[in-house]
Amino acid sequence: MENHASQIETPNIAVVAPHQFAKLGTAELFELVGEYGAVLFRNCIHSPEAFSELVKQHSSRLSLDPARQMVGGAAQLVDAGTQAVGLHCENGNSPFWPDLTWFYCHEAPRKGSQTTICDGEVVLARLSEPCRSFFEENAIRYSRTVSGEKWRRLVCHYKSESVDPRDVQIDDLLKIIDADENTRIAYDPAEDSIHYAFTVSAIQISSFSNRPAFANSILGPSFNYERPVIDTAHGHPIPAKFISEIETISTRSTHPIGWRDHDLVMIDNKRVMHGREPITDGRRIIFNALSYR
Ligand SMILES: [Fe+2]
Repeated sequence: MENHASQIETPNIAVVAPHQFAKLGTAELFELVGEYGAVLFRNCIHSPEAFSELVKQHSSRLSLDPARQMVGGAAQLVDAGTQAVGLHCENGNSPFWPDLTWFYCHEAPRKGSQTTICDGEVVLARLSEPCRSFFEENAIRYSRTVSGEKWRRLVCHYKSESVDPRDVQIDDLLKIIDADENTRIAYDPAEDSIHYAFTVSAIQISSFSNRPAFANSILGPSFNYERPVIDTAHGHPIPAKFISEIETISTRSTHPIGWRDHDLVMIDNKRVMHGREPITDGRRIIFNALSYR
């Protein structure tokens, strides 16, 4: 591949200049994300609508976070409070786990308040043998309750025809999940909520890189949602010593993106986890979009 990217500015993220970005098609973008895991395109997008268009152009299907507002059909304003946000794959604790997560920085913070990224390939290589073996041998299970408003909105997004969320049935959700034997759903008609359990390996093989990475949402946040119970597929807790090890190693492998206005970041969501520093600068407008290749 022609060399479109440099890795000088920020460790573990490839940086592409604006004049290079204009020349890249979907195949080249996917090749870059396969090589680097996360790619930062400097000063290339100027509105959330243009961001939405770009994501649609390079995606077979879009996903969303049903707790956020949508702009331009794909972009959602990142609004998860002001606290630090733990590392996670976007929607990686549910069967609606997209291949790519995209960020567009409309206004960059001037101090701190950075989005952070952590390459799961690096984490996996740094794990001790007992810790790595534990996660190779034990799938992780996320379980929690989701309100009617949120699961209904998600179903509306995934249905091809437009539907009123009030007309959605629980069977519509079950049909969407149908093929996924790793997801169990129980519906509570009295509350209109669902309780789901999603079982998945903490180590994923990305379709972009074809290499394994420690990519999961074990340390992730729960803003707008009930905090999930995270245990093994057999219902055993993850040993505290392994949680502590993945916290230490992930922290060591995490880097701020280094936002400037109008930057775009494309992240392999089954390899590179992301999080956020505490927000200390109110000048910060960042949008997120989720897509399948
Ligand atoms: Fe996120």
